[in-house]
Parts: sequence; structure tokens; C-alpha cells
Amino acid sequence: MATHFPLDVWLLFVAQSFTLIFSLAQSDTYIVHMDLAAMPKAFSSHHSWYMATLASVSDSLRVSTTPFSPSSSLKLIYSYTNVIHGFSAYLSPSELEALGNSPGYVASTRVRPVKVDTTHSSQFLGLNSANGAWPISSYGKDVIIGIVDTGIWPESKSFHDDGMAEIPSRWKGECEVGTEFNSSLCNKKLIGARYFNKGLLAKNPNLTISMNSARDTDGHGTHTSSTAGGSFVEGASYFGYASGTSRGMAPRARVAMYKALWEEGSDLSDILAAIDQAITDGVDVISISLGLDGASLHADPISIATFSAIEKGVFVSTSAGNEGPYDKSLHNGTPWVLTVAAGTVDREFVGNVILGNGDSVTGLSLYPANSTSSRLVPLIFMGTCQDVKELKKIGHRIVVCQDKNGSLSEQVYNVQNAKVAGGVFITNDTDIGLYLQSMFPAIFLNPQNGEIILDYIKSNHDPKGSLEFQETRLGSKPAPKVASYSSRGPSPACPFVLKPDIMAPGDLILASWPRNIPAIELSSGKLFSDFNLLSGTSMSCPHAAGVAALLKGAHPEWSPAAIRSAMMTTSDVLDNTFNLIQDIGIPNKPASPLAMGAGHINPNKALDPGLVYDVTTEDYVSLLCALNFTQKQIQIITKSSSNSCSNSSLDLNYPSFIAFFNANDSNSDVKIVQQFRRTVTYVGDGKSTYTAKLAPMDGLQVSVLPEKLVFHGKNDKQSYKLSIEGPRLIKDLVVYGTLSWVEIGALGTEEDAAIIELD
Ligand SMILES: *[C@@H]1O[C@H](CO)[C@@H](O)[C@H](O)[C@H]1NC(C)=O
Ligand SMILES: *[C@@H]1O[C@H](CO)[C@@H](O)[C@H](O)[C@H]1NC(C)=O
Ligand SMILES: *[C@@H]1O[C@H](CO)[C@@H](O)[C@H](O)[C@H]1NC(C)=O
Ligand SMILES: *[C@@H]1O[C@H](CO)[C@@H](O)[C@H](O)[C@H]1NC(C)=O
Ligand SMILES: *[C@@H]1O[C@H](CO)[C@@H](O)[C@H](O)[C@H]1NC(C)=O
Ligand SMILES: *[C@@H]1O[C@H](CO)[C@@H](O)[C@H](O)[C@H]1NC(C)=O
Ligand SMILES: *[C@@H]1O[C@H](CO)[C@@H](O)[C@H](O)[C@H]1NC(C)=O
Ligand SMILES: *[C@@H]1O[C@H](CO)[C@@H](O)[C@H](O)[C@H]1NC(C)=O
Repeated sequence: MATHFPLDVWLLFVAQSFTLIFSLAQSDTYIVHMDLAAMPKAFSSHHSWYMATLASVSDSLRVSTTPFSPSSSLKLIYSYTNVIHGFSAYLSPSELEALGNSPGYVASTRVRPVKVDTTHSSQFLGLNSANGAWPISSYGKDVIIGIVDTGIWPESKSFHDDGMAEIPSRWKGECEVGTEFNSSLCNKKLIGARYFNKGLLAKNPNLTISMNSARDTDGHGTHTSSTAGGSFVEGASYFGYASGTSRGMAPRARVAMYKALWEEGSDLSDILAAIDQAITDGVDVISISLGLDGASLHADPISIATFSAIEKGVFVSTSAGNEGPYDKSLHNGTPWVLTVAAGTVDREFVGNVILGNGDSVTGLSLYPANSTSSRLVPLIFMGTCQDVKELKKIGHRIVVCQDKNGSLSEQVYNVQNAKVAGGVFITNDTDIGLYLQSMFPAIFLNPQNGEIILDYIKSNHDPKGSLEFQETRLGSKPAPKVASYSSRGPSPACPFVLKPDIMAPGDLILASWPRNIPAIELSSGKLFSDFNLLSGTSMSCPHAAGVAALLKGAHPEWSPAAIRSAMMTTSDVLDNTFNLIQDIGIPNKPASPLAMGAGHINPNKALDPGLVYDVTTEDYVSLLCALNFTQKQIQIITKSSSNSCSNSSLDLNYPSFIAFFNANDSNSDVKIVQQFRRTVTYVGDGKSTYTAKLAPMDGLQVSVLPEKLVFHGKNDKQSYKLSIEGPRLIKDLVVYGTLSWVEIGALGTEEDAAIIELD
């Protein structure tokens, strides 16, 4: 049996999807959690204890009675240091059962399939060399970003190290030797490259790994790495589109690749090992553009592993997923990481239909040529382009199709197979970005512009046209918008913490691409490029990771929670037309916090948030207690066997609020009051006073106490309470508003999103 799991990239026909191969045997890979406190003193290390434990339960040992059977070492896949106390191993059902009775055994989880989920975006986010986050953080100099992904193409110009200082001496990473990869491929930019596939091979012993090294054979990892920390590269473009200087969010940060996703498949034990090693190596920020759907926090290896990262002060950015626009569709809804949604940027890729009368009509296109031909060819309107037979008779003409039934994908497919001179599609499909990188000359018109063409065709007995491409327009409005595919909250794993946290650019992002992997396959053949345009939360996640690197560079003392808080409370809720940011998933409606979190990331404002909502590991434990996790489940996450639940609370000190009301209560006189308590830390200089500003919320009464907070100096803390009373006459299922803490005598504001969902 084989199953496919796509990357968190929307353009699935560009990025290869991964195939997980299941072996038919009953044996499987397990992640086994152990209680280090129970380790007998005789063992010199946790590794030897794990080995001995495995040997004692091994089937072959019990059959052959040979002590220290080599098969026990073969069954051990990884012994982990940071992310869990324990190991991964390939076990038969009887071995698993025997292991359950071993001293120090806590729990085990079977490894499940994982969903693997420019450029102009830095400019769109306001990053510039004159002021703000770039100069203040020295462009992220000396901050190390670890990326868990499909590998890296080290020759890409985005990883050149011109002008970069020596590698920080604290770095313990390595450039591992492997197929077509040696240590001289790393430099002062790409400072580490490791690969992990022991788990994949344990499950599929006969698998041949075609590129057994950190080298990228997919493109995804090269793209995400260059987005987060790519160097400046002049003359970048995707076949003439999006041309300009490419750079990552933190162009002076160091990049380290931890390849755990393979063309041949992937295994969670490898992803866990990758995160474990990144922590040991000393990365400051981890970017993970992949996720596991439907796992609870104690059964999701990514949530377990990232808890250890946070404990060690490592910031973690993750992708929300591409299952939108449906509610509760997100993954990585883990309270200790940043969960990133995807938005558009103010850039459009256009093509023009030149009509026989000299008029020109503009639409969207990413066809990699400059024109169909200089000669005009006949234009023919074919309705909804569903009649394949008729389409095949058209020949060297340009077909015009009108999408009335939401059948755009079928139309594009039909026209592609009909081998015509070109296609013009009149549509208002919200997922139009999916089709722009077409295999044949195609332009996508909105219904308004479509009318111009239809009128021309109707009123001319010999309508003609040609198609022109390769135009990029900046400053398009409104932008940003939430991409319709971006996964939505609330978090199934922990609905009491509002997710996603933030939105970052993720739609049609230009970044580096391996030179030997086709960027696009046309009917006429494959085309290669050093840069590619991809869409997805996989692309927005490394944007946020890069911004985190800038904030870490500017404020090395900030905790991961403080960095997250700074990003969230300073994010933008208005687009470039000064209206509320819209959601493409619910056309022309404002985006709710379930789609974009607190708002669109603003790196320069995040430098100076005024107040931050900090969270300690004890606070996360109090949350896990209130989720009614057992001590064993909490231990799996914290690795500690003593977790105090004396302060059990669902009310995490988070820069957002979410409350659930039963819609049926609105018919009765029952008033339900939800209270939240928050503590803010002042991170500015001198004394300061803030006052609360609350946006009214339909049908709900919201209040904050006290309404004024006075801070006597840096790191001073003050607490407040927010009460939401409701519901009364609620019309919508989801109601949201904002609480702003406004510094008296300053322009800076604090914005927190509050959200209420009625079941
Ligand atoms: C590493 O590989 C590069 C390119 O393949 C080659 O030029 C170089 O000599 C190799 N270096 C070592 C130390 O093997
Ligand atoms: C692996 O290959 C060996 C030898 O070719 C064969 O006996 C065995 O059945 C194969 N195992 C799997 C899981 O395909
Ligand atoms: C398209 O490219 C060709 C060859 O590069 C060039 O001769 C032609 O002028 C270009 N046409 C337009 C409309 O830019
Ligand atoms: C555009 O969308 C509206 C509603 O979403 C739909 O009724 C209309 O038919 C669409 N028009 C075209 C040309 O697809
Ligand atoms: C929409 O689809 C239905 C059934 O699939 C079809 O009967 C109808 O003609 C279509 N409408 C248009 C405008 O093509
Ligand atoms: C935890 O258990 C208590 C007591 O049974 C219950 O009142 C509470 O609603 C539960 N909390 C969650 C988050 O399920
Ligand atoms: C519980 O809260 C009290 C008061 O804030 C604090 O002193 C104590 O350390 C907390 N205990 C734990 C286990 O977090
Ligand atoms: C609300 O009432 C409806 C109709 O009586 C019922 O089906 C639904 O389960 C109730 N919802 C909740 C959350 O209790």
C-alpha cells in the first residue's frame, strides 16, 4: 500500500509529492520514551542503557539465546539526547510488548505518516538597509537558522558567503559527507548540512536512497532555506517574472540544513533526530515546513521535539498547513511554537491578450515565454471548454473559455490536451494561483476583462488575437490577503490557544531552486531555472523564521515566547488600502484571526513591541495539566517525571484570546463570563504608562481591568484581567475584536486579537 502526502506547498505539480512505503510485516518503527531517573547506575550513558534494554526484549535474543545479539543494535534507529528521553527502534509486536514491562519504560508511539507540507517579499515587509530590523540586527549576522527539510543545493548563489564574518565559535554542527556532497560545499553562510534516513531504511531495508546526502533532489528545502536566510543575489527571476535582487529575510544569518525528507519517503524518527541534532549543534531558530495532521500534543513527535527546543531557548517556526479554507484544518497548533499562515504579496504576474482591433486586455499568467507569436491568430469562444472532441478540432487558434461552474481545472486540462495556440480563461476562481504556471500559453482574465474579449468576439466576423507574457506588476491592491489554501484554526490539538499565530508571505514566492530539477515542464519540454515561484505555508514559515532571526540578532536576551509575542502584537490588520485584510477563502470578507492569527507580520515594528507576553516552561506544564493529560503524557513532552499540576490552567499567558460559547445559551437568560489573566513585561527603556483600548464586539460585553498599566523600568511586569460576557443575540458563529495597549505619549500600539467561537 502506498499513500501520498504533499508538502505544505500548494503547487503540487511543481514540488514532487513524497511517497511513504509501508512494509507488509507487522513490525514497525516506534518512538520509545524512557524515564532517565530509572536508569541503573551501572550504565555509563543513556545510550548503553537503551541498547541493553532493547537487547533484553529482542526476539532474536529470546530465540537464539545469544547475548548481545547484533540484531539489537540494528533495531535501534536513534537514541535521542534533547528532544525526548528515549530512542526509536524497529520492533515486532512481541518485542513491543516485552519492552512495555522493562524498567524505566514510559510510553511508545508508533511512527505515523507525516504531512510534509525572492525576492520582493522583504521589500513588501518594509525591510530596508536605511533603518529598522535589517541594520539594527546587522541583517541577522551570527544568528543560526536550522531548517528541517528536503536538503539543500549548496551551489545556489543564495548560499554564497561573500563578506561574511567567521562562523560563531559556539557552532558545533557539521557538513556531512555523502553522495555528491563533501565538506567543502559548506561555507560561512551554509555552515551545516546533515542527513537522516536511518528510520526510513529500518522500515524499508531494501530501499535504495538515490541521493544519500544533504543534497536536495526536490527543491523544497533549497527554496525554504533561501527564503529564511539567503544572501543577496542580483539578476534573479523566474523566466523573466519577478526579476530583481533575491534575498532572504535575514540575509546575513547562517543556514544549516537537516535533511529528513526523501524522494523515497520519510519517517518521523528521522525528523525527530534532525531536530535533536539541530539543538545539539546550537541553532537559534528552527524552521519546519511540515506537519502531522490530527495528532494530540503528546503523540505528535514534532510538538514533543520542539518543547525541548523551546526549553533551550531555540525559536521554532512551523507551517499551519494547506488544507484551508476549512475551520480546524491546521496542524502544528502547538502552544510553544509559532504557527504561520500564508498570505499574498502586492505583486502580480500578468499577460496581455492583444486583440485585432489594437485593444489590449490584461490577465494573470506565468507562462515562461514573451509571446505566442507576433502574428495574430483567430480567437474562438468555446463556452465552458468541456467538449474535448470539439476542442481537438481547433488547431492553431486561441481558445477562450468561460468558467461558470467552477470547473477551471478541467478546462485547463482539456485545452492543454487539445494542443491549440493558446488559451484565455475567464474565471473568478479563488485558487487561480494554482494554474498560472501553465504548460501551454495561457492567460487568466477576471469576468470584467473577460467581457471585453467576449464583446469583441461577438461583434467581429473574424476575431483575432495574440498573447504576450512576462510582465510583473508591483503595488497591486489590496495586499496582503489570506490565501484560500492556508489552514484555519482553531487548533485541533489545543483549541484553548488561538492558532494560527501570524500570517507571512507565502503566495508565489521567488526563491532559489536546484539547477538540475525542472522548474516547469512545458508541452515542449522541461525548463530549468536557478529560481522558482512556489506557494504554500511552507513558504510563509521560513519568512517568519527569518524575521525571528532578525529579532534574535537585535534582542539576544529575548525568549522564544517574547519573540513570538513581539511579532504578534505588532502585526498589521490593515492591508495596503487601509481596510481590514481580506480572506480569499471567503471572497471579499475580512479575514478572521482563525485565518491569519494576530495579523500580517511586520518585522520593523516587531523590533520595538513595548510590552511582551512571556511564557515559562512551567506555564506550558500548567496548560498540559488543565488539558487533563496524564502524568505519563506530560512526561513524554517535558521528559521530567515530576510535573507539578498545582497551578493547572488553560489560560496561557499568550498574546491572543479564544473563548467558546454554546450558541444554545443565547435563548436563555444564562450569562457566561469568560475571564483571562495576562502578565505583560515592559521591554522598552525608562518609565512608561499604557492604557487599554477595546474594540466593541457584537453581542458581547468585553472589559479589561485595570485599564491603565504603569511600568517603572525595563522588565517591569504588570497584570490585567480581560472579561468577556456573553452570548447575547449573536448572529455570527465567529466574533472577534482587538485589545490594544496604547503607550501614553507615544505612537506605538499593542494589538491583541480576541476571538469568540460559538459552537
Ligand atoms: C568536494 O567536491 C567538489 C565539487 O564536487 C570538488 O571540487 C572538491 O575537490 C571536493 N573536495 C574534497 C575535499 O573532496
Ligand atoms: C529484501 O531483499 C531480500 C533479498 O533480495 C529479500 O529476500 C527480501 O524479501 C526483501 N525484503 C523486502 C521487505 O522487500
Ligand atoms: C521576445 O523574445 C524574442 C527573442 O528573445 C525577441 O526577439 C522579441 O523581440 C521578444 N518579443 C517581445 C514582445 O518582447
Ligand atoms: C464569479 O463568482 C460568482 C459568485 O462567487 C458567481 O456567481 C459567478 O458565476 C462567477 N463568474 C464567473 C464568470 O465565473
Ligand atoms: C454547469 O454544469 C451542469 C451540469 O454539470 C450543466 O448542465 C450546465 O450546462 C453547466 N453550466 C454551464 C453554464 O456550462
Ligand atoms: C478536565 O477534567 C475536568 C474534570 O473532569 C473537566 O471539568 C474539564 O472540562 C476537563 N478539561 C478539558 C480541557 O477537557
Ligand atoms: C504556582 O504559582 C505560584 C504563585 O504564582 C508560584 O509561586 C509557584 O512557583 C507556581 N508553581 C508551579 C509549579 O509553577
Ligand atoms: C444546540 O441545540 C441543538 C438543537 O437542539 C442541538 O442539536 C445541538 O447539539 C446543541 N448544541 C450544543 C453545543 O449543545
